[in-house]
Amino acid sequence: MPGPPIPLLTRRALLAAGASSLIAPAFAQEPRLAALAAASGIVFGTAAASYELRDADFPPLLARQAAMLVPEYEMKRAVVEPRPGAYDFSGIDTLMAFARAHNMAFRGHPLIWYAANPPWLEDAVLARRDEKLLTGYVTALAGRYRGRMHSLDVVNEALADDGNGLRQSFWLKVFGPSYMDMAFHAARAADPAALLVYNDYGCEPGGPLGDRVRANCLGLLDGLIARGAPVQALGLQSHLFAFGQHVDQRKLRDFLAEIAARGLAILVTELDVSDEGGPSDIALRDQAVADEASRYLDVVLDNRRTATVLTWGLTDRYADPPQSLRLKMTGWRYRKFPFDAGLRPKPLAGALARAFSARRPA
Ligand code: XIL
Repeated sequence: MPGPPIPLLTRRALLAAGASSLIAPAFAQEPRLAALAAASGIVFGTAAASYELRDADFPPLLARQAAMLVPEYEMKRAVVEPRPGAYDFSGIDTLMAFARAHNMAFRGHPLIWYAANPPWLEDAVLARRDEKLLTGYVTALAGRYRGRMHSLDVVNEALADDGNGLRQSFWLKVFGPSYMDMAFHAARAADPAALLVYNDYGCEPGGPLGDRVRANCLGLLDGLIARGAPVQALGLQSHLFAFGQHVDQRKLRDFLAEIAARGLAILVTELDVSDEGGPSDIALRDQAVADEASRYLDVVLDNRRTATVLTWGLTDRYADPPQSLRLKMTGWRYRKFPFDAGLRPKPLAGALARAFSARRPA
C-alpha cells in the first residue's frame, strides 16, 4: 500500500542518511525494505516455505521485512495434487495464515507450468487430451483462494529458453498455444479479483538470446491480448547473474515501455542474483551481486507500471537445501539473497533499500 506522499527533499535527505549506513561494511542498521518500498508505491515481498516458519529467529525478520508472500514450492502441482483429485493445500494454508497474521498480501505461483508436476499428469494429458486436466486444476486452486490473492501466476515459463518460440511442453503439444488462453479464462472465472500474470525468465539479460526471448515474450502477450485472454501483468522472474550475462539497461527500459504500452502491469516476482562463477572473496561477491541488482532495479523501478518486487528468498540460510548435491560435492554456498545465513543484511539489502528510496514519487 503506498504511504502518504513524501516531499522530494525529505526523501532525498532520508536516502542520503540511509545510504551511508548501508554502504558501511558492517551493517549496524537493518534497512526496512517493505516500508521503503511502500513509500515509493512498490510492494516488497519474498518467497518462503512453511518449514522456514519453524525457525525461531526467521519469522520475525520475515514479518518486518516483507509485505507480500509467495510459496517457494508448496503451490506446485506436484505438492498440491500428488494423486489425481487428492489435493493437499496444507503448505499454502500455513503460509497464508502467517501472511494474514502479519498483514501481508499473498501471491499464487504457479498454476500451469511444464515442470514440478506430479508424475501422473503428463501421461494423463497425453493419453486423454482432456482440457479438464488443465482447467479443473486452475479452478480448484484459484477458486479455493478466491478473493485472497493479490496476483496469480496463471502460466509460468511458456517460452523456450533457447529463444525458439514457445517451449515444447506437453501442454503445447496437446492443446496448442490456446492452453494459455484456457488457463487465463478459467482463472478469471474462479477468482474475479486476483491480478492475472504471465510469468517467465529470460527477458532481463542483455545479449542476442535476451533479444529473442523479449521479442517472443511480446509476441506471446500480443497473442493472448488479441484473442481476448484476461492477462493483466507480466511477471519478470528476475534471476540475475553477477558473473554472467549482465542486464542491458537500454534494452530493458525499451522492453518495459512496450509492456506498459500494452496496459500491462509489471511484477518482479523471483529476484535473486547468482554469485556463481565469482571469486572466493565474499565481500567482492556480495558487492557484485548488489551492483547487478542496482543496475536492474534502477530501470525496472523507473517504470510507473512496476508494482511489486519479490525476492526468491530473504536469506541465504535456506538457499542451499541440505540435500543439495552441489553443496555436498563442493561445499559451495550461494549468497544471492538480501540477508546472510545469520540474518544480517548484505550489500544486496542496501541496493534494494537505495533503489526503493530513489524511486520518483508517483
Ligand atoms: C523452484 C523452487 O525454488 C524449488 O524449491 C523447486 O523445487 C523448483 O522450483 N522459476 C520458477 C520457480 O518459476 O517456481 C522455481 O522455483 C525457480 C525458477
